[in-house]
Amino acid sequence: MKKFLVIGNPIEHSLSPKLQNYWIKTHSLEAIYGKLKVEANELGELCSNLKEGKLDGLNITVPFKKLIIPHLDVLSGDALRTQSVNTITVEKGNLIGHNTDIDGFELSIKKLNYDVSGKSVFILGAGGVVPSIIYSLKRMKSGRIFLSNRTKEKAKDLKKLFDDLNILDWGQIPAFDIIINATSLGLNQNDKFGFDFTKAGNDKLFYDVIYNPYETEFSIAGNKPGNNFENGLHMFMFQAQKAFNIWHNIDPKIDEKLISFLKKI
Ligand code: ATR
Repeated sequence: MKKFLVIGNPIEHSLSPKLQNYWIKTHSLEAIYGKLKVEANELGELCSNLKEGKLDGLNITVPFKKLIIPHLDVLSGDALRTQSVNTITVEKGNLIGHNTDIDGFELSIKKLNYDVSGKSVFILGAGGVVPSIIYSLKRMKSGRIFLSNRTKEKAKDLKKLFDDLNILDWGQIPAFDIIINATSLGLNQNDKFGFDFTKAGNDKLFYDVIYNPYETEFSIAGNKPGNNFENGLHMFMFQAQKAFNIWHNIDPKIDEKLISFLKKI
């Protein structure tokens, strides 16, 4: 029986076990996928367990996507360039860090038939998934990328990876075609940004990395006539599909049946 885990803190909300176990069952694999809340000082022990064969793979979520890196032996090119790992495999006793968030974001944009090339992008937030989104946008040849985070220092840190990033103060709003909510605002129904990002006019793509079911300030603006709204469910499913392929060498299906299964509480 192969064993997989998603680790993070918090981890209660994660739908990864539900999704991965659904595909494991569909393909009749001898495997199980669980979730574990961990502290940063437990990462070393978990990686030792992987090396010793007690575990077969990990998914990493916030806040450990960068912190896990010193415990790994090799990084894929994408993981290296974003300094962000969300999937780990073991090959001949070596721990390999991959980043499937980049492909996850790109596939979710392609599914919308949205052409990112030359478009101005405004990113709110500077958390764990943001380097992957920026890298993916650049790969799709987006135009200028603006970023604003409540804690400006964290936004400035991202300039070390992407030197042409335009950092704005929290509350400052540039002209944009796409706005991406990569903060955790919206996880709670009554969350408020505290500034008005709807002044930018119509014909905008509102992309929320969160996939919760609530109507939020962000989703209401994105669902106004003329705008487009996408939440993070497809990005989540596509990054998981890539991880499943890395571990099991199978491309599992994403269809309406799976989506309604995930939406069922
Ligand atoms: P992490 O920052 O640990 O990687 P994350 O969930 O990926 O975790 O990121 C949370 C993001 O939501 C951060 O950009 C955070 O801003 P700070 O860097 O200032 O903490 C943002 N965020 C969370 N609560 C917020 C709030 N009340 N107002 C504005 N931004 C908030």
